[in-house]
Amino acid sequence: MDSQTKRNYIKAGKISAEVLEYGKSLIKHGNSLLETTELIEKKIFELGGKPAFPVQISCNDIAAHFCAEEEDKTVFEEQVISLDLGVHVDGAIGDNAYTIDLSGKYNDLVKAAQKALEESLKIVNVGTELREIGKVINDTIKSYGYTPVRNLSGHGLDLYNIHTNPTIPNIDNGDKTILKKGMAFAVEPFATTGSGVVHESGLATVFMLEHKKPARSPITREILKEIETYEGLPFAKRWLTRKFGAKANFALRELTQLGMIHQFPPLVEVNKGIVTQAEHSILIDDEGEVIVLTKM
Ligand code: CO
Repeated sequence: MDSQTKRNYIKAGKISAEVLEYGKSLIKHGNSLLETTELIEKKIFELGGKPAFPVQISCNDIAAHFCAEEEDKTVFEEQVISLDLGVHVDGAIGDNAYTIDLSGKYNDLVKAAQKALEESLKIVNVGTELREIGKVINDTIKSYGYTPVRNLSGHGLDLYNIHTNPTIPNIDNGDKTILKKGMAFAVEPFATTGSGVVHESGLATVFMLEHKKPARSPITREILKEIETYEGLPFAKRWLTRKFGAKANFALRELTQLGMIHQFPPLVEVNKGIVTQAEHSILIDDEGEVIVLTKM
């Protein structure tokens, strides 16, 4: 990894951490989910980064991939709210997340995910097996009496690629792949009161350009040009409807039919369990030094 790329990872991580702190301060009774989402996205640009994916604010049994649309009327009340955000600097990504319990009933569930992250980071090093990280996460969450979400995982962070190898499990899945020098990745424990499995539910508001092909309609071509400015990273339907109105829906439909875009529907706990999350991004540099990119 060249030194400029390393500096970009460090900068992206620092901005991510700063924006997460800012976002946490906005998650309060009575604040609007949509407005909060947009203020956080604005902050990313103000600090000199770009969103690596749309800011996600997921409530209660939604584990991930919830992203407000323009018409969203949700106001924060007695929910358990997870904020997950990513920032990139020239493609180098910092990704972090935090859960806030506004219900006052799930303090331990919040702690379970956070402690699992803390404990797992203690063993992150060159040569650590992925399954060992999963085991620490699983055991920590279980010690609080909760269940890890086993079909969600941490992930490698490549340039302009948010979900790549290694896949970092939240349970001991037997994977003996080891961490190596030069790897950037996110560790992302989820804890739940449910059974520990999520499934896709509801309509996607997050998309990603996957295969570029020619599109026929001028509207779709115009919107495709905008989508290309996201550089292959996930984007929100809202970003397009804000700019292009209803034309964006038409274009997204055509792009989906052409098999050009990937959809990310909300991920919901199958037993309607409450879900909490904690996440940090880590870089192991070429000298083998472990840098937690998103630590304040
Ligand atoms: Co992540």
